[in-house]
Amino acid sequence: MSINAIKGMNDILPGEVETWQFLEQSAREVFGLYGFSEIRTPVPEKTELFCRSIGETTDIVEKEMYTFNDKSENSLTLRPEGTAPVMRSFIQNKLHNLDPVSKLFYMGPMFRYERPQKGRYRQFHQLGVEVVGVEDAKIDAQVLAMLHHYFVRIGIDSVSLQVNSLGCPECRPGYRNTLINYLESRLSDLCEECQRRYQTNPLRVLDCKAQGCQVATVDAPSVIEHLCSACNDHFSQVKDHLGALNIPFEVNARMVRGLDYYVRTTFELVTDKLGSQNAVAAGGRYDGLVESLGGPSLPGIGFAIGLERLVLMKGDQRIVAEGPQLFIAALGKEAADRAFVLMSQLQSVGVYAEMDYLGKSLKAQMRRANKLNAAFTLILGEEELQSGQAQLKDMADSSQTMVALDAIAGVLTEKFI
Ligand code: HAM
Repeated sequence: MSINAIKGMNDILPGEVETWQFLEQSAREVFGLYGFSEIRTPVPEKTELFCRSIGETTDIVEKEMYTFNDKSENSLTLRPEGTAPVMRSFIQNKLHNLDPVSKLFYMGPMFRYERPQKGRYRQFHQLGVEVVGVEDAKIDAQVLAMLHHYFVRIGIDSVSLQVNSLGCPECRPGYRNTLINYLESRLSDLCEECQRRYQTNPLRVLDCKAQGCQVATVDAPSVIEHLCSACNDHFSQVKDHLGALNIPFEVNARMVRGLDYYVRTTFELVTDKLGSQNAVAAGGRYDGLVESLGGPSLPGIGFAIGLERLVLMKGDQRIVAEGPQLFIAALGKEAADRAFVLMSQLQSVGVYAEMDYLGKSLKAQMRRANKLNAAFTLILGEEELQSGQAQLKDMADSSQTMVALDAIAGVLTEKFI
């Protein structure tokens, strides 16, 4: 019996991978313009890192982590997200000593044991950014402007930006209590899960998809109306800067996030093209996180984009791999040997060249050249070997030019390089 991949974990095959490469390359280009450098951290981390940062009572930590003991009985977890590992690395490597403002980006697989469905997987990939060291609201707007720029660059426009402020340790507890009191008065209308968590994680109730919970919380107290004056000012500045940069957004005071480290600005980029998995990117501020993990007291902000969701949104605008610049069709063993050497010479000078390895007929070789979408073809037979020249055919307009075999590399490098 053959062995299949694990449920919720997918292969990315040739034909699809070109779209991934385009999305990743575009990220390198755009994030580079804003001064971000790449960071790569290990896939497993100590379990404690995620419990302390994401929060013990969150869905991720309670239900979704891939946690196991290694052979020395250390509890390890396959990273469910990138912020905590990047902050762990930031502290461990004292990156704040290199630069007072660290701008980092990362891309790679994350793991959550969720119920797989379209747009939701158990191994998925994030493209994330983190900025550590700036409290000024300009950086919130800059990070959002970069996210907007990235979506323009990759040609996806059916998304909208929702922003909120979740307050800080000064004002959140007051709001939390007000919300708990409000929820208490409607407890019987809430779903079972919200009845269980309304004390430990009351904000999550606002985000519950159950209709009863949505109806029961229509007029729930709004977090924005309970911000302290410092958070209120910060949020106003974020909105003003976004306005100055012409970044379209709407305020969604009911937006809560599934990770506990957030304070102040939070945001999601949502779409109506992906059914219930409507967030293509999400993030926010985590000003106390670095300190709570044992590092200096530095503010931070970032986001992560779900790459699978972007690929789904690209749909039929998928990126197609470029075909060979030259396909050499050979007739007979001697010609195939010559074609092999010529192909290798071309590849070594930077020309993408292909040939047939299966001893196929000329007709079949030309069919393959067409299928691969070759830009030029060259037929090598006995006559060509003797004369030392062959017809180079431009597949776009079928025009042919006689070229000496020794000159082909020169002709093609001139055209393509
Ligand atoms: P998050 O909202 O948990 O935030 O995830 C960010 C994005 O990852 C989501 O908006 C979604 O596009 C994608 N995503 C999450 N779970 C799945 C899944 N099971 N399958 C497919 N895609 C998924 C974070 O992870 C934060 N670390 C973001 C951040 C960075 N905040 C500050 N800096």
